[in-house]
Amino acid sequence: METGFNILKLSLCLSLFVVGSCAQAPAPWTPSNGMRPGTCDHYECPNYKLVEAGYAYEIRMYDAAVWMSAGPISATSMAQATKTGFQRLFSYIQGKNKDNVKMNMTAPVIAQATPGQSAYNVSFYIPKKNQENPPQDNDLHVQSWKPTYVAVRQLGGYVSEDVAKKEAAALMDSLDGTQWVLAIEKSKGKSPAYLVADYNPPSQTTARVNEILVPFTM
Ligand SMILES: *[C@@H]1O[C@H](CO)[C@@H](O)[C@H](O)[C@H]1NC(C)=O
Ligand SMILES: *[C@@H]1O[C@H](CO)[C@@H](O)[C@H](O)[C@H]1NC(C)=O
Repeated sequence: METGFNILKLSLCLSLFVVGSCAQAPAPWTPSNGMRPGTCDHYECPNYKLVEAGYAYEIRMYDAAVWMSAGPISATSMAQATKTGFQRLFSYIQGKNKDNVKMNMTAPVIAQATPGQSAYNVSFYIPKKNQENPPQDNDLHVQSWKPTYVAVRQLGGYVSEDVAKKEAAALMDSLDGTQWVLAIEKSKGKSPAYLVADYNPPSQTTARVNEILVPFTM
């Protein structure tokens, strides 16, 4: 492990050497360094504790929470499915549900791909006020999350499935040599391989914040 890490440091050093000084340790990777997405200053976001802010990754412990999901949505791309899902969920929070209850927007909206299919579930975090009794809807289903560990990597832009796969792989690379790898390996098949969390509405084209989430249990 130690040797592996040193080799990683060395190769980082060598690649950084080309562009600058290698005398000091590489600066933390700013996009994912204990940073709470800015959207959460305006919208309610699910509660979590930061367990570890690592180099290019975070480990969080999310509280139990109820989400409302649209899907499976058949779409040609994850971005398209997220748009469709977002529209359905948006009308749900505007009161078009069985209980005619309006809710505030929350963040993030989470997209989950079905392995081997062009079908996606898109989920909305239910505001705390409504967590105990989420308004029902014929086209949506409730998803209850137990408390869960999540490995996180932040990125900008719109996230295609190709990008998501690459970023999920990069997240796993950044966890190399940490205690989290084994737990994630053991959770395979029980937890989704990865989720894409989108903190901005599809209409916002700049300063977008997304996260790749890899849930696991210890
Ligand atoms: C939305 O949030 C505001 C501010 O926290 C609150 O006053 C209002 O009651 C909320 N609206 C709903 C529908 O929950
Ligand atoms: C999407 O939701 C459906 C309905 O609850 C569920 O059967 C399916 O497993 C979900 N798919 C993913 C990838 O989570």
